[in-house]
Amino acid sequence: MVTNYGSLIEDDKGTISPRIFSDNTIYEQELEQIFARCWLFLCHETQIPNAGDFMTTYMGEDPVLVVRNTGGKVNAFLNVCRHRGNRLCRADAGNASAFVCAYHGWAYANDGSLQAVPNSQDAYYGKLDQNQWGLFPVAQIDSYKGLIFATFDSNAPPLLDYLGNFTWYLDNFFDRREGGIEVIGGMHKSVVPCNWKLPAENFGGDAYHVPWSHLSAQKTSFSNSPAYQQVSEGAMVSTGRGHVVLSLGPGGMSSPNMADIIAYEESIIPEIKSRLGQRSKLVTPFVGTVFPNFSILHSSARTFRVWQPRGPDKIEIWAWLYVDKAAPPEIKESMRLAGIRTFSPSGTLEQDDMDNWQGCSQAGLGTVARRHSINLQMGLGHESYNEELMGWTSDYFVSESNHRKFYQRWSQLMAGEAV
Ligand code: FES
Ligand SMILES: [Fe+2]
Repeated sequence: MVTNYGSLIEDDKGTISPRIFSDNTIYEQELEQIFARCWLFLCHETQIPNAGDFMTTYMGEDPVLVVRNTGGKVNAFLNVCRHRGNRLCRADAGNASAFVCAYHGWAYANDGSLQAVPNSQDAYYGKLDQNQWGLFPVAQIDSYKGLIFATFDSNAPPLLDYLGNFTWYLDNFFDRREGGIEVIGGMHKSVVPCNWKLPAENFGGDAYHVPWSHLSAQKTSFSNSPAYQQVSEGAMVSTGRGHVVLSLGPGGMSSPNMADIIAYEESIIPEIKSRLGQRSKLVTPFVGTVFPNFSILHSSARTFRVWQPRGPDKIEIWAWLYVDKAAPPEIKESMRLAGIRTFSPSGTLEQDDMDNWQGCSQAGLGTVARRHSINLQMGLGHESYNEELMGWTSDYFVSESNHRKFYQRWSQLMAGEAV
């Protein structure tokens, strides 16, 4: 039994134990202390725009039903029948006024209330109090710029406090143009034999791997624009509570190497600057993670994704592509294609990443390998709090400062600190 998480994470020394990527006891504790307490991303509101629209997802390993009820209010419930615990809704998404359990037919309205129970008069003698047996709701649900989050913890701070200064960085992805964004196409789901923290930390600030892991893909020249390949400035920013983002320098642009998209991005710079204010003259955020497992990328693909934990050494990637709602239809289509080429299960860059995350998870399974700490010392002591950027910021844009902040937060929550 692990009780001292400080011994696994030494953020002041920049070392961590590889056990956190493979140990089942640690994983069980993560489900309790992190996934059952933190605010977790459910879906974007454009995925459930109409009354009755729903989608099913997970919070940690708990199945969850997100549904806009007939009155238009969005809520989320455990996707578990209250009778004998069957999974209630089996569909990925759809529109329904009610959900009927496949096992014995208990029926719930789309507001979660139990509406009908077969044999309620003869077998239950009219004694079952249906008001007591509605679906279990999440403790809190809220949205920011169309992103719907929920938490199982009634003591968690409000969503806006939880996100804190990271909201400005989210605006860079989701609210840089009038109308915000919309999801295009369906969802990509894939299973990767790796621990959930590896992609979360990678998207949170691993500039180091890009010119090496992705060298072949970069050399094909269709994955990233030439401008990105010459990037030499930017910063890691950690705004607190484990939220981390990698930013390019002012005017930096990370785009697919497609002339129409590059021209589009250049054409909207004035609108972006006026919406995001002075701070956008300092940095251009392009990839980040909302702690614990929601990541966003605005690069060769525009994608947001959830790293759904499925045991200590397995995840499901649930990934969507998104575009500015105000973009012309031909640009939306170009971005959809660029996203599939690079960050889908068969995408050039995604495949590079998956292979490394798998290697990191599985090499640490060895009895002896797991005794030895691994190294997150890059840039240790070369970071400081930057008032303008509202977070801890690395001096040089290639650093592991965000990794250290991510794992510092992880160890605090694992030790039982408040969310
Ligand atoms: S388990 Fe759902 S109706 Fe029996
Ligand atoms: Fe990568």
